[in-house]
Amino acid sequence: MAKKVLGLSFGRKNKNCDIMVKTALMECEKAGCEVKFFRVDDMDIKPCTGCISCVIGMTSGRGKGGCVLKDDFAILDEALMECDGLIVGCPTYETSITGKFKIVCDRIGPSHDITFRKATYEEGLAAGKSPEQLPDVRSFKKRVAAFIAVGGAMTENWLEFMLPLMYEMTFSMGIDVIDMQKYWGAMAFEHVLGNDKQMARTRKLGQNIAEALAAETEEQRMLWRGDEQGLCPVCHLNMVNILPDRKTIECPVCGSYGKLTLDADGNIQLHYTEEEQLRSRLRWAGKLEHSTEIKTQAVGPGQIPDLKERMKPYIGYAE
Ligand SMILES: Cc1cc2nc3c(=O)[nH]c(=O)nc-3n(C[C@H](O)[C@H](O)[C@H](O)COP(=O)(O)O)c2cc1C
Repeated sequence: MAKKVLGLSFGRKNKNCDIMVKTALMECEKAGCEVKFFRVDDMDIKPCTGCISCVIGMTSGRGKGGCVLKDDFAILDEALMECDGLIVGCPTYETSITGKFKIVCDRIGPSHDITFRKATYEEGLAAGKSPEQLPDVRSFKKRVAAFIAVGGAMTENWLEFMLPLMYEMTFSMGIDVIDMQKYWGAMAFEHVLGNDKQMARTRKLGQNIAEALAAETEEQRMLWRGDEQGLCPVCHLNMVNILPDRKTIECPVCGSYGKLTLDADGNIQLHYTEEEQLRSRLRWAGKLEHSTEIKTQAVGPGQIPDLKERMKPYIGYAE
């Protein structure tokens, strides 16, 4: 059966992101994939209200991880469930992702977390429920993704938070990112269609997705196909936090801890143990650690018996 690739653009109609995502999709189609494209700003997708009924539904065993909001997210969700590969293009706004991009990440968020969904699914089956009453079984499909970040600025660091934050789209579903393209200086060109170098890189990105989807082994499928290995061996980005103990570092994308050393030439070296790499929130173990913390430590109503009383001075205050 043909692999399905979903392209999402968060850019302006027929501008850089739209055309780059479609270019990559065309390569996938040439390789035999079925493709679908959405320009997400055309869709009515409301922000998450934070009601967490998706998670409560799953942890209580009564829900499937669905959302109470009724809008076009259902259309996007069905396409996400169907796809094997995802290609996402986003413009840079204020060094970062657009507001709509963040809204979609939040709507995918905890409701699609594969560790929550898997536990609900397996416990439900064991309790004799039918698959229709349980989280969508397509949630557990292995998927790959590639990111295209576009910035008008001439300096690369004006796109600084793009790729780290684009990962938010893949966290909860455990989608493996296998390639990324960072296109800065877009405003020096009327359109990306006049930038042969970037167009060639976008075609390569599409070919990389098609190649990953055709892989016979899991190792081949997940293989990193980006231009640079990056400092973090899991997310392949270069961001790093230095913790207050001044001994420990943390990859902000993965959440893994590591150590920093200087080699004989004075070059900075980062070290993340195998165990810490597995703890990355891009991997099953890291996600499970998080969902288990929530399941075992989050408290429900009733912990503060006089909460209503304590709340009184705040109701309507300065509104
Ligand atoms: C509100 C706003 C903020 C922007 N901030 C940045 C920025 O911080 N860095 C940058 O490189 N480009 C910035 N840009 C430029 C866009 O990233 C650029 O126009 C991009 O090509 C838009 O993608 P599109 O052509 O696919 O619509 C900004 C544009 C807007 C509208």
